[in-house]
Amino acid sequence: MSTLINKKVVDALNAQVVEEFTAQNQYLAIALYFDAETLPELSHFFHLQAQEEHEHGLKLLQYITDAGGHPVVPATKEVKNHFESAEEAVELALNQEIKVTHQINNLVATAESENDYLTRQTLQWFVTEQLEEVSSMSDLLNVVKRAGDNLFLVEDFLRRNPHEAEAEGGEA
Ligand SMILES: [Fe+2]
Ligand SMILES: [Fe+2]
Repeated sequence: MSTLINKKVVDALNAQVVEEFTAQNQYLAIALYFDAETLPELSHFFHLQAQEEHEHGLKLLQYITDAGGHPVVPATKEVKNHFESAEEAVELALNQEIKVTHQINNLVATAESENDYLTRQTLQWFVTEQLEEVSSMSDLLNVVKRAGDNLFLVEDFLRRNPHEAEAEGGEA
């Protein structure tokens, strides 16, 4: 198969797959925490986030394959499994999304420095996706902070404002 992307770009894309699947596991851990706290809407929200991260990882692996590179299904990094509060968990999630945004920007820079405009173009979807991810997590953190000890207010907020992925029928 002809190869449209060089090794440096393939390695950078595979490294991002590690981050996406790690994010998936982190969101799963947060979803389980909220499930244990009997906060079903928060749990559902983070289960959906986990699914989205899985789809992001798959999207990258599929692109590497289509472009003739070698996709690597990775071992993932450690994730946090103990939380003291909803705020701590959601803050971690927001910081994760901000970190991923920087990683995607670095990937774009790598593609551009290699004159790889096919990868650059493919990554644009991720650039736009990060705006939505950071924005929705930042909104959730605001609501959690405002709710204080009464997390039923957060549950109510999520019930009235279902996550976009849900509104779109679970599409990425
Ligand atoms: Fe992602
Ligand atoms: Fe994300």
